Amino acid sequence: MSATVDAEAGVRADPAFRRDVLRGLAQAQKAIPARWFYDLRGSELFEQITELPEYYPTRTEIALLKQHAADIAAYVGRGRAVVEFGSGSSTKTPLLLHAIAPSAYVPIDISGEFLRDSASRLAATFPDLPIAPVEGDFTRPLALPSMAGAGLPLGFFPGSTIGNGSAFSSVDLLRAMAETLGPDALLLIGIDRRKPLAVLLSAYDDAVGVTAAFNLNLLVRINNELDGDIPVERFRHRVSWNDGQNRIEMHLAAQDDIAFTVAGQRFAMRAGETIHTENSHKYSRDEALLLLRAAGWQVEEDWADDAGWFGLYLARRSPPSIQD
Ligand code: SAH
Ligand code: AVI
Repeated sequence: MSATVDAEAGVRADPAFRRDVLRGLAQAQKAIPARWFYDLRGSELFEQITELPEYYPTRTEIALLKQHAADIAAYVGRGRAVVEFGSGSSTKTPLLLHAIAPSAYVPIDISGEFLRDSASRLAATFPDLPIAPVEGDFTRPLALPSMAGAGLPLGFFPGSTIGNGSAFSSVDLLRAMAETLGPDALLLIGIDRRKPLAVLLSAYDDAVGVTAAFNLNLLVRINNELDGDIPVERFRHRVSWNDGQNRIEMHLAAQDDIAFTVAGQRFAMRAGETIHTENSHKYSRDEALLLLRAAGWQVEEDWADDAGWFGLYLARRSPPSIQD
């Protein structure tokens, strides 16, 4: 899954990373899937983003988890096995774990080293809780470690990471999660909403440039792992709101005509041409309910902050009926 280190050749890339980058750079609109942001440096930069004053989603979701911990616990009950998708630093996790006294915790993330460090830190806070990190891609059904079978599963998918895929791929992702979790699963998921444009744009283009560094780090990663010579300093972070698609888009824009090599292949970009690196879709409450329903999840309870900026949804697996 992750890049491995070869003593002689340096870092060897994940074949899926190589495939996605070479394919993405060959397209008319160059594009690289956002999951590849998260090497160790990318995960560290994302953590810095969550602390920025402009980045409202993290603090809004944390406030919701604190405010509704008792409601969540009343519905979920005790002894569930918590399976967290895209767990990152697991910073929000203790708010849930303290409330529901789980039987086990399984954090899943594509960023292996960061995942294992975060799991070790969490183990110090919950010494009696069985914790089994899984390094993997959550877009496909995954086999859970056997200790996750100790309690009925509760999927936890905070951060609105769901928004980084299209609505189509998000339904597929939610179906894959249902398969990973099994028939008696619940899912607690955070989904970001549309809000004033100035708020959205500054959340993804902060004043001190952490989000720019996060975006540009993808090029650094390509150079490191795919033997690239991309001149990173000749690209700029660019953010826009796509109103038709209801999403923030992040791009990397070439400042002038640029030619470079990645994994032995030559690419050229014109001044102003971009590599599309991330979408962050925003869903109203109705759209979120529909998205979950389309993937076989029935929302039982949900909460939002007073401004209506972010939604937290608790859903039960509910396979489509013959009428669906
Ligand atoms: N849940 C945390 C982190 C969100 S950042 C929060 O709420 O703040 C998104 C996380 O998802 C990162 O840790 C990233 O490494 C992980 N991720 C992104 N795509 C992934 C994929 N396809 N499979 C597994 N993990 C993924
Ligand atoms: C992880 N994901 C939900 C973040 C988001 O808001 O789309 C990633 C991010 N990109 C830039 N800032 C944060």
